Amino acid sequence: MQVSILTDTDACALHVARIVAGVLDSSAASIGLATGATFAPVFAALKDLAPTSARTHLYLLDEYLGLARDDPRSFRNTLTRDVCKPLGIPADRLHGPLNNQAPADEAAKTYEATIVRAGIDVQLLGIGTNGHIGFNEPGTSFASVTRVVALSDRTRADNVGCFGRISDVPTHAITQGIATILRAKRLVLVATGSHKATALARAMLGAVDPECPASAIRLHADVHVIADEAATRSLTSESVDDGSSSADQ
Ligand code: GLP
Repeated sequence: MQVSILTDTDACALHVARIVAGVLDSSAASIGLATGATFAPVFAALKDLAPTSARTHLYLLDEYLGLARDDPRSFRNTLTRDVCKPLGIPADRLHGPLNNQAPADEAAKTYEATIVRAGIDVQLLGIGTNGHIGFNEPGTSFASVTRVVALSDRTRADNVGCFGRISDVPTHAITQGIATILRAKRLVLVATGSHKATALARAMLGAVDPECPASAIRLHADVHVIADEAATRSLTSESVDDGSSSADQ
């Protein structure tokens, strides 16, 4: 596992944006993108780097259910607005389940098949305060694939930001499963802020166990964790230095 610890959120965002730009500038065919507060500054920094993205296809990690197709808070619309439009990536190169595509279970199955067929080169991941990746909540089997899930109260509360009221936060979503995520050739997990410190420490140092879905990344051979100092405050230099890690500044 490679570990990069940067001073703050902005430094992290630039570091991750450069990685994403490198993928978009390369011959890589596909990148899986996460959304959420962690990635908003990444996408802002990416705009300035203006990568070419000549042939790369983009794949959503997860998507809310129950929002209107034109709802700006859907992850598809977020990526369209913050990544595709600024970089001139055509809409048909952004893949994910369509909101309100019925039945949702079928949409999830179809999306799983799309991801498997594509083969993701690099998958970006955030981490929930309860250790979730995508919308795979604690207790999710590591064998899980893309499917419809119910969101925990904690995740809904964490995501209330752009909804205003907890009752407006969707109760369900479609997410790539843990097994789906682990299929990607390379995983890049990003954590910023002190509120992520406990979850990140559990993911990196605790048991590899479904109770902390993010711990599954330790089953993958090619993982890069990028975090700011606040998110790593529960890690010690000994704990991340296993000989294969690097701490960049
Ligand atoms: C959210 C998303 C994840 C995201 C993670 C962290 O619930 N569904 O894909 O990476 O949890 O979110 P944030 O970056 O907003 O803290």
